[in-house]
Amino acid sequence: MSGDAATTAATTAHRATKIDIRNVRKSFGSKASGSKLVLDDVSLRVGEHEVVCLIGASGSGKSTLLRCINLLEPIDDGAILLADANGLMVDISEPGLDPDPVRRRIGMVFQSYNLFPHMSVLHNITLGPTKVLRQPKAAASERARELLERFGLADKADAYPDQLSGGQQQRVAIVRALAMQPELMLLDEVTAALDPVLVGEVLNVIRDMRGQGMTMILATHEMGFAREISDLVCFLKDGVILEAAPPAKLFTAPDHPETAQFLQRAIASGRR
Ligand SMILES: Nc1ncnc2c1ncn2[C@@H]1O[C@H](COP(=O)(O)OP(=O)(O)OP(=O)(O)O)[C@@H](O)[C@H]1O
Ligand SMILES: [Mg+2]
Repeated sequence: MSGDAATTAATTAHRATKIDIRNVRKSFGSKASGSKLVLDDVSLRVGEHEVVCLIGASGSGKSTLLRCINLLEPIDDGAILLADANGLMVDISEPGLDPDPVRRRIGMVFQSYNLFPHMSVLHNITLGPTKVLRQPKAAASERARELLERFGLADKADAYPDQLSGGQQQRVAIVRALAMQPELMLLDEVTAALDPVLVGEVLNVIRDMRGQGMTMILATHEMGFAREISDLVCFLKDGVILEAAPPAKLFTAPDHPETAQFLQRAIASGRR
């Protein structure tokens, strides 16, 4: 899709919708101090089990969009609808709505892992399930150990975050989000802080999640990975989804010259 992003949602279209972002606008600042439009009429529909990558230059609005979806930022206009257990689309962006039950259903992982340094890996992972989901401690620990095993971290359960590599910490952060059994995962440049050798192990975790059918929206500068993993890639520029297309199309024959320019620059800077 190119051009008319204002009226046509970027969409993966062929599955039941999990999240529907409709004409979202978001500004920062105030009229007095000068306000800046950071998301300008963004529409995006993501189907169940689908993976969407957001790409675009620094400052284009990728993190802001993810933060709006997770209700960390209120939107100024538009709506964000999330499918409930029966597939019914519920507006989660209504002002005054309690964000906590929604956030419980959406996992978010950031570039900086944000693990609690004074807690063991196992404790970091079981904290949410026991405190928020009120799972019994034994059941939460068992599930946490299963997840650690699945991601090659079984021997790290009792370690503290500062005893782990960056890649291991990021994998623990992803496991911590998964332990909450989210319906949707938002991943914001989860490999950006890592040495190239450690990037691969985190990308493997994301591949695995995809294989398990997790619905995901990722902001990434890893073009090769976006190409491999996405059902849909959205190119953002100045808060607008300038172009959204399956990777085979967007990376080989983009409609928009600015997409092509961005990709050329990304490749030139080694972000393939
Ligand atoms: N809390 C805030 N207050 C004011 N401006 C903000 C705030 N958060 C983001 N912005 C601005 O919004 C714009 C979009 O930022 P955002 O972090 O969403 O970009 P991004 O695409 O994630 O960039 P990057 O690739 O560097 O992570 C930028 O101009 C940024 O300065
Ligand atoms: Mg960002």
